Amino acid sequence: MADFLVQLAGNDNARRILKRLGLPIALPQPLERRTGSWKNDELHARTWRVFGSAGSSLAMPLAKALVRSGGEVLHATELSTFTDVAEAFGGRAEALPDDERRDLSGIVLDATHVSEPDHLDALYDIFHLHLPMVARGGRVLVLARPPSSTDAPGCQAARQALEGFVRSVAKEVGGKGITANLLWVTPAGDGAIEGPVRWFLGDGASFVTAQAITLGGGDASGPFPWSSPLTHKVALVTGAARGIGAATARVLAREGATVLLVDRPSDDDALETLAEELGGRAVRLDITAEGAGSLLAREASQAGGLDILIHNAGVTRDRTIGRMPEADWNLVLEVNLKAIERLTRALSPEMREQGRIITLASIAGIAGNRGQTNYAATKAGVIGLMRGYAEVLRDRGITANCIAPGFIETDMTAKVPTVIREAGRRLSALGQGGLPEDVAEAITFLASPGAFGINGQVLRVCGGNFLGA
Ligand code: NAI
Repeated sequence: MADFLVQLAGNDNARRILKRLGLPIALPQPLERRTGSWKNDELHARTWRVFGSAGSSLAMPLAKALVRSGGEVLHATELSTFTDVAEAFGGRAEALPDDERRDLSGIVLDATHVSEPDHLDALYDIFHLHLPMVARGGRVLVLARPPSSTDAPGCQAARQALEGFVRSVAKEVGGKGITANLLWVTPAGDGAIEGPVRWFLGDGASFVTAQAITLGGGDASGPFPWSSPLTHKVALVTGAARGIGAATARVLAREGATVLLVDRPSDDDALETLAEELGGRAVRLDITAEGAGSLLAREASQAGGLDILIHNAGVTRDRTIGRMPEADWNLVLEVNLKAIERLTRALSPEMREQGRIITLASIAGIAGNRGQTNYAATKAGVIGLMRGYAEVLRDRGITANCIAPGFIETDMTAKVPTVIREAGRRLSALGQGGLPEDVAEAITFLASPGAFGINGQVLRVCGGNFLGA
């Protein structure tokens, strides 16, 4: 069922009438979503205001990421690196006094120098003045060093403070469709920022806000293709007949991947129709069936190998634990966790180097949810599974991560009672549900070569949902 308030917000006349009537209805900002495939100059015609410290080791990689993606960079006067890089790459950068006002697509703050509480005072100066100048649908991105147990307590305090700050900014600006996210960049991850910076600032991430993701080193065999990044890659998606799985297969194919689509034998012919549309292959298989792993390994080998494995198939059987039939417990555990563990064990040895494994978790697996002990156990379980595989496969340059969707408008959530559905949509920073495409874009980002620094992580695609925040 379409979101009435988002539709209303997209209608200028309706907005005007509501304003004139003075009705206390907060309309969510319709999000600007990606309409085409990835481009080299992804952030063309956007203006970023950049702050940071002149001595930062991130200044150069950040300048390259922003300039090469086509944006205009307005930087603090001491950050001359940005002008130098713009001259070298034919981009646009301009030094501005800190108090000069400009209309902005977003604010990018390199906060890697933050190591004591006094350093936090600059946050007030920067955001108090410039946040109101960020346009609707804009972006806030903060890059910082993750607090580590070896840091002095004051340093840990200052760094951890950034997370509370960014998440709160996300809640303050969500009504304007602006997102705010934090990249914890480990020193080894300085060379891994271009992919994440491009993605978090771009239109594919418009439903991702209030998140903190850690960037490590990984195996960087760049330079990376920023357009058609998945050319020559083979991707396998389970549960691909509908919903998030179908959207994911579409976006992976759009970016150049050959797709193998897997879904239950009992399903209608949606799987075959989609496979034909995408030039991929439909594989009718219950992932819990005996021998499913070896069958899929054969399919992958016939397709030329396997680079991207998306564990998307999932089921719910909601009941409080005291009322839950044993069969419902068993089914959910079997599909959502045990089959995924077996398939990963069977398929990961077959994967090529620089591969990507991405599993659909859920915010229920982070926060817990009444009536979902079985589902939440499995969704937390896959987070542990991916963290485990992240270490096991690190040597081969293969990453393993989870995506945790929040409220997404699919057949599944259309069946939810109205009051719960409205709560799922509105109790979030962006005040609306996401679309399957939002999740598909995030999966495709993690599957791309430029996401090599993200490993063993959980990326929430939840619009800043208050559940498990
Ligand atoms: P959906 O119910 O629309 O699609 C799931 C697909 O998986 C179906 O085509 C189904 O036939 C297939 N499937 C189920 N069991 C299977 C099996 N044993 N073997 C092969 N295929 C099987 O679900 P939706 O909403 O697209 O969700 C996709 C994933 O995202 C699931 O893992 C779900 O738990 C997760 N998720 C979804 C959220 C939402 O709001 N829609 C929120 C959080 C997580």
